[in-house]
Amino acid sequence: MSIIFDEQRQIFNISTSNTSYIIRIFQNRLLLHLHYGKRIDNLEGIPDVPLNGSLSMSAHAAGFDGRVAIDVLPQEYGFYGTGDYRTPSFLAEYEDGSRISDFVYDGYQIVKGKQLLNGLPSTYVEEESEADTLEIYLADRLKGIRLILRYCAYNILDAITRNVIVENNGTECVKLKSVMSVCVDFADMYYDLTRLQGAWLREKHIEKNPLAHGRQVIDSKRGASGHDLSPFMALSRKNCDEVQGEVYGFSLVYSGNFEGSADVSYSGGTRVNFGINSFDFGWMLNGGECFTAPEVVMVYSDEGFGKMSRTYHKLYRTRLCRGKYRDKKRPLLINNWGATHYDFNEDKLILFARRANEVGVEMLVLDDGWFGKRNTDNCSLGDWYADVTKLPNGLNGLAKRLKEEGMSFGLWIEPEMVSPDSDLYRTHPEWCVHVLGRERTLSRRQLVLDLTRNDVREFIKDFMRRLLSKGNISYIKWDMNRNITEAGSQLLDKANQQEFWHRYILGLYELLEELTLEFPDVLFEGCSGGGGRFDAGMLYYCPQVWTSDMCDAAERMKIQYGTSMVMPASTMSSHIAESPDHHNMRSMPLETRADISLSAQFGFEVDIATLSENEIEIVREKVKLYDEIWQTIQQGDMYRLASPFEENCCSFLYVSEDKSEAVLMFYTLMAVPNSQGRRVMLKGLKPDGVYVEQQSGKKYSTQILEDYGISFPEDRDFKSSIMVFKEI
Ligand code: GLA
Repeated sequence: MSIIFDEQRQIFNISTSNTSYIIRIFQNRLLLHLHYGKRIDNLEGIPDVPLNGSLSMSAHAAGFDGRVAIDVLPQEYGFYGTGDYRTPSFLAEYEDGSRISDFVYDGYQIVKGKQLLNGLPSTYVEEESEADTLEIYLADRLKGIRLILRYCAYNILDAITRNVIVENNGTECVKLKSVMSVCVDFADMYYDLTRLQGAWLREKHIEKNPLAHGRQVIDSKRGASGHDLSPFMALSRKNCDEVQGEVYGFSLVYSGNFEGSADVSYSGGTRVNFGINSFDFGWMLNGGECFTAPEVVMVYSDEGFGKMSRTYHKLYRTRLCRGKYRDKKRPLLINNWGATHYDFNEDKLILFARRANEVGVEMLVLDDGWFGKRNTDNCSLGDWYADVTKLPNGLNGLAKRLKEEGMSFGLWIEPEMVSPDSDLYRTHPEWCVHVLGRERTLSRRQLVLDLTRNDVREFIKDFMRRLLSKGNISYIKWDMNRNITEAGSQLLDKANQQEFWHRYILGLYELLEELTLEFPDVLFEGCSGGGGRFDAGMLYYCPQVWTSDMCDAAERMKIQYGTSMVMPASTMSSHIAESPDHHNMRSMPLETRADISLSAQFGFEVDIATLSENEIEIVREKVKLYDEIWQTIQQGDMYRLASPFEENCCSFLYVSEDKSEAVLMFYTLMAVPNSQGRRVMLKGLKPDGVYVEQQSGKKYSTQILEDYGISFPEDRDFKSSIMVFKEI
């Protein structure tokens, strides 16, 4: 059992193999946070109250002596109104207009295994023995509100998950204004905060800043996790890098408005809160109801960011992603978007697919433009029937011809959207998100369907069933190309309007849950103008996501490097596209474009017919290489050896679980005249092993690979190399 309650000390010790999370029940009333970090088994000497110094200006909780300075004590969950002036984790408004909470300890329960969350994605276990769960109850001293703080410790990985459930056991209706999923009060402020920031075509760039007094926040108010900030943050010590130092990762398993903050208080402690964004959030909780806040996955590593990421990768790949494709080699696909945009017809697609099939591609994905009258992005979203001018035999006819060519068929769709110029909008103008009397703001010339409405969700399920039940579509690219404006729903009462944001996401999850379970043979890929909703919540339904619309290899390596902070390679779709790139017009060797795609979920957007004989040969070789290395890339341990954010190069290493194979990737950005090149040291190989590099046949000992390294010249712009080492 990885969770122990020490009765005498009144301490909960939640452990994974290398980490501990320790909570004290103080004077049978307060829950204090004592430790998160390296595993501690022997609690001899652990203090009662982790406080030093005089704190005479602090409020002192009623019934305690002067030591209990409520705004300084590391609380397990922060609440508002009795003297803790840091940002609360919980805030509610009661019928009498008061907003004060006063929670006291009210018992606990330790159970084997891990429960799923109602209507929300979460990590899971396959066997009860894989994890243990602690529930601690807190009850308000006046109102009938009870909080369940849930902690789950994985026995198979160094990860602790948390979430919070609010129960209203009283009779009055309580308005929840903030319910954070996690609160950790760190004892000092000497950390850097790492966030993943970006934009469309520039997702998940790494940004690291030292903490300072006050509140530093990452958030989204878009109705989706968004391109600009991701629901992930990390606190790391100053000496922390890829291989050494302490780092704490927080990853929210949620796809909507989120808020992560680090508050450094006057006394020098740091409070981390993470959960649904409290901005424009309000949830009316009637007596007898409960509210479930999404899960946060916490990972502590004392071996730098590299180990933290590998823990997330393994957990998310094997215990968050689900379904038939989770551990499988995904079909090698070509998507027509980059090559044709809206300009295609059945014959053109067949030719496009045939050429791709000749080099080993297995599936054609038909992107935007197959439905309604869609020849630009100004119409037809919602009219999900084939455009017979492009596809005279419909989707079935196309799928049949593809099958004859030996190819399977995948389809792009944007189910959450409607174009004002569509039959759907003409029939149901009330189905989009809007506020009566206000103009409906367009973005990409489209509106968002109101997923909080049951009739809208049923309509979406219906057309998805119609498309998928014929059995000839094996893949869906579920896109979402704009964020929400004029938030609100016509079917929600005035008092419930601020529930809209979360209800939208619950609606989305309901759709994805039902459809993915009903069509287990279909591979669902997530997308939102690339990585605009590439978050842990989506991985529960979609084992892969289109990482970015940016396919230029130099930009892509940064995007994939940053994405890999949390997301495993198996989840990052990455395709070889045209050169020069359509967005930044940069020309890039085919080899480099291919090698970046090979470091994630390999695929194609480029029209093979535009390639020279020589290039087609390169493509064949890369497809062969993909067949050899896919398992190590997708299921192995990933090491980031050189960062494109810090250097003129980028390097990834993947080592298979049994350490019998290692794949080393190196990319130069700009050539450096008269440079002696860059040497990278491999990691995680078999101790005392000997490996053969497959292309040269040269043998290397583990010591040479790890302690001397492999050198790469930096003599040409955008040059790339992949080396495969097999143990003998
Ligand atoms: C989004 C996607 C692209 C493509 C287009 C089609 O931008 O990210 O890959 O599917 O939509 O409109």
